[in-house]
Amino acid sequence: MRIGVLTSGGDCPGLNAVIRSVVHRAVVDHGDEVIGFHDGWKGLLECDYRKLDLDAVGGILARGGTILGSSRVQPAHLRGGVERARGHVQDLGLDAIIPIGGEGTLKAAKLLSDAGLPILGVPKTIDNDIASTDVTFGFDTAVTVATEALDRLKTTAESHQRVLIVEVMGRHTGWIALHSGMAAGAHAILVPERPFDVQELSDVVGKRFEAGKKFAIVVVSEGAKPRAGTMDFTSGETDIYGHERFTGVANQLSMELEERLGKEARPVILGHVQRGGTPTAYDRVLATRFGWHAVEAVHNGHFGMMTALRGTEISLVPLAEAVEQLKTVPAERYTEAECVL
Ligand code: F6P
Repeated sequence: MRIGVLTSGGDCPGLNAVIRSVVHRAVVDHGDEVIGFHDGWKGLLECDYRKLDLDAVGGILARGGTILGSSRVQPAHLRGGVERARGHVQDLGLDAIIPIGGEGTLKAAKLLSDAGLPILGVPKTIDNDIASTDVTFGFDTAVTVATEALDRLKTTAESHQRVLIVEVMGRHTGWIALHSGMAAGAHAILVPERPFDVQELSDVVGKRFEAGKKFAIVVVSEGAKPRAGTMDFTSGETDIYGHERFTGVANQLSMELEERLGKEARPVILGHVQRGGTPTAYDRVLATRFGWHAVEAVHNGHFGMMTALRGTEISLVPLAEAVEQLKTVPAERYTEAECVL
């Protein structure tokens, strides 16, 4: 078989582990040829690729980022993009394409699959918001990084008797905020699924100070927004692909809380550090398993599907099901967190 692999969308710890696993399973065990497209779908659309053999993937298991590069370019962004992709798949004699990506990438994968291309997706995102898989690799690393940061921030917050508003990633869902906030014992967690009331938040933090505590840590997802009418709030602008850019909630909240509470408040935006660096052992294992199963799937002729973790097993789910809706934080998970705040 001749297999093409690409990584698209925001990078994520564990991408290299998938690439390595695909190459090991395909080249060593099946005698396949694997090529890697550069910078996501852009590489497929521009026929920009390189051969991936064992040497090419040596020593990359623990390396963050992606050796193939990534971009947010999608076939639908270019006029004739789908036809161009089909032409390159034919010219290169590809029997399968394994795109590794999040929501946007998997939607593009479905588009190409519906157009008849042999696609088998692998989900990735630190946000953990892909439906149909219990977990995506990258999430555990992001939560670990955010938790360590929160632990560190507690000591400086206490020394200065401050309120720290710590913004973590999560455009549409609050998984990173929920898990890191619970793991670090944050005093409030704000997620996009549940618009917050700034007065309620101010009361929670204020009561903590009244009880003699010296500091407070609020974890907020970048996509969290106030309940309508509870606070003047400016949303992010959009980037060149029309994605909302989130740069504001921690800044705006810290000013608001400082004013309401008369306590010093500071915003801390963790940003891309959550996506950088070496993946945790959990993410390396999940990514490696996804890569192995992706190769098995294409050998068994399963296309238009995505690898998924269900319980402890890796299974295949239709791309159509995977991109139907995002996996949001259920109300009961939020309630569990609230009782320990
Ligand atoms: O998809 C993961 C994610 O990290 C989001 O949480 C975040 O909003 C987005 O990517 C930011 O990515 P970039 O700045 O690379 O466009």
